[in-house]
Amino acid sequence: MCGIIGCVSEKAPVRDLLIRGLKRLEYRGYDSAGIAVESASGMALVREVGKIQRLEDAVGGLFVEATTGVGHTRWATHGRPSEANAHPHLSDDGTVVVAHNGIIENYRDLRAALEQDGVVFRSETDSEVIPNLIAQAWRGDLVDAVRASVAQLHGSFAIAVMHTAHPHVVVGARKDSPLIVGLADGRTLLASDVAAMLETTRDMIFLEDGDIAVLTSRGASILRFDGTPVERVPTRIPWDLARAEKAGFDHYMLKEIHEQPQVVGDALLGAIGASSEIRLEQLTLDDAVLRSLDRVAIVACGTSWHAGLVTKFWIERFARIAVDVDYASEFRYRDPVLDSRTGVIAISQSGETADTLAALRRAKVDFNARTIGICNVQGSTIARECDGLVMTHAGPEIGVASTKAFMGQLVAGFLFALRLAAARGTMSAHEARRLTDQVRRLPQWISKALLCADDVRAVAESVKDARGFLFLGRGANYPVALEGALKLKEISYMHAEGYPAGEMKHGPIALIDEGLPVVVIATRGPVYDKVASNVEEVRARGGRVIAVVNPGDDRVARQASAVITVPECDPLLGPMVNVVPLQLLAYEVARLRGCDVDQPRNLAKSVTVE
Ligand code: AGP
Repeated sequence: MCGIIGCVSEKAPVRDLLIRGLKRLEYRGYDSAGIAVESASGMALVREVGKIQRLEDAVGGLFVEATTGVGHTRWATHGRPSEANAHPHLSDDGTVVVAHNGIIENYRDLRAALEQDGVVFRSETDSEVIPNLIAQAWRGDLVDAVRASVAQLHGSFAIAVMHTAHPHVVVGARKDSPLIVGLADGRTLLASDVAAMLETTRDMIFLEDGDIAVLTSRGASILRFDGTPVERVPTRIPWDLARAEKAGFDHYMLKEIHEQPQVVGDALLGAIGASSEIRLEQLTLDDAVLRSLDRVAIVACGTSWHAGLVTKFWIERFARIAVDVDYASEFRYRDPVLDSRTGVIAISQSGETADTLAALRRAKVDFNARTIGICNVQGSTIARECDGLVMTHAGPEIGVASTKAFMGQLVAGFLFALRLAAARGTMSAHEARRLTDQVRRLPQWISKALLCADDVRAVAESVKDARGFLFLGRGANYPVALEGALKLKEISYMHAEGYPAGEMKHGPIALIDEGLPVVVIATRGPVYDKVASNVEEVRARGGRVIAVVNPGDDRVARQASAVITVPECDPLLGPMVNVVPLQLLAYEVARLRGCDVDQPRNLAKSVTVE
């Protein structure tokens, strides 16, 4: 997820507006940034690695006269953070500038064709194909060139385009990535979201997928990719700036919970081929290496450790290879049994967690193990030091309590397990196709799961003063129970414990009484009947059951004092759907208890110390 801003102004210079707008977009990505403006000698660009402040310092006193420009702040998905990979990108012939947010699935083919035509590329990014397609298609009309180019793009994109032959014009186009036009007196803006433009205008047009906007200083005309003109009615934005940066949500955490369908969609873009082959571009371990592995060890901390437990379930099921999952802080001081045929997977949102990094280095240096990272931050230490990498594409996660990054980790783990199974020949083509068809439906299932928010809010009201919680699950839902407990602990400061449902009778059942709500994941699957029996055990001792069930459940629901319904899906994908109500429950209880949801006490977003 990146941030784009553009502006065409009648008189007022745009440089400071672009920089300030980028600062409002920094939460969307901050590994590099840049601005491009029209100048007498063509396009002028400044791009810097790091945060916007570094860009502002580099721009210094430049561009004081410019009245048309675009800016971009990056969250790397293809190509490490560097000046060359920073946006905006300039076409090889120097005529077209583009800032892009999204993922171009077919960029390799497009790049190869352009290189065949003699185009020289200067970055590792997917985005750089766009200005070169437009430059190649241009025959005097910029809109026609943009239309011809976007027709060739597969994937997601929001773009802001300038051309040296079309001064005082910025063209925007969007498909599956947000893009908004801002209308002000004598200035017209374009941005990834409202926050970047609010200090200039509250009158905005939310472009729809397939829209192209042509901005001049007097306003914007909008047409469809097929050239048909269209009217879009401006919206007056009531939000203040703080609320705008959370897209209207009260907290970043809630915004990020609701971003999860998009996160899954982004993670799947380009990852599944037409014949269900799994394409993990940055994994860089070929089939022979994957086949040579005789076991897997997963090392991680906290929520990422829970993602590891779910990934274990899939790898053992699909690839038929033994998997251990270790807390990194334990692994690094144990005497683990590893060798060069062990695949060590380090899961880390930040890519900087000290314990996970130390465990990874131990695996490499002491045991010569093959290492794979599942990370959310391109260019982070763990991402750089692993032999292979699977990115989670969740975008910057501002809430300290991880939600969308966890979702991204689950999708990455699922895809890796399928990839490993394909390399080892342990899964039929039919099953591979069935599972990839199912995983493509995840965004809609998660969207439907989010509809339980009102029911969850009612449950939160009823349990906000409980003395503690028990979370129960079986199979791949056991780690989800652990994650639900951790979320609640982290942000509401209430005690909560996750447990395998089958283990409850071996001790924790002594805790059961009316004052200890028991949250049970009881969705349909191979162990549903066992979970239903566990629910009856809780009820027999006067316990209060909050059940996460599928529609039409009439066995567990009858026993529960509260029911939260989530859409039924393949049980193998259940963790991605079933975690949603637990995230929302933690959020609602914390909010009711007046806790600092986004920055809970004692916690840090990345624990870079032991
Ligand atoms: C998650 O909600 C917590 N903030 C914490 O457990 C986190 O998952 C853990 O510190 C690992 O962080 P990482 O994924 O960045 O390595």
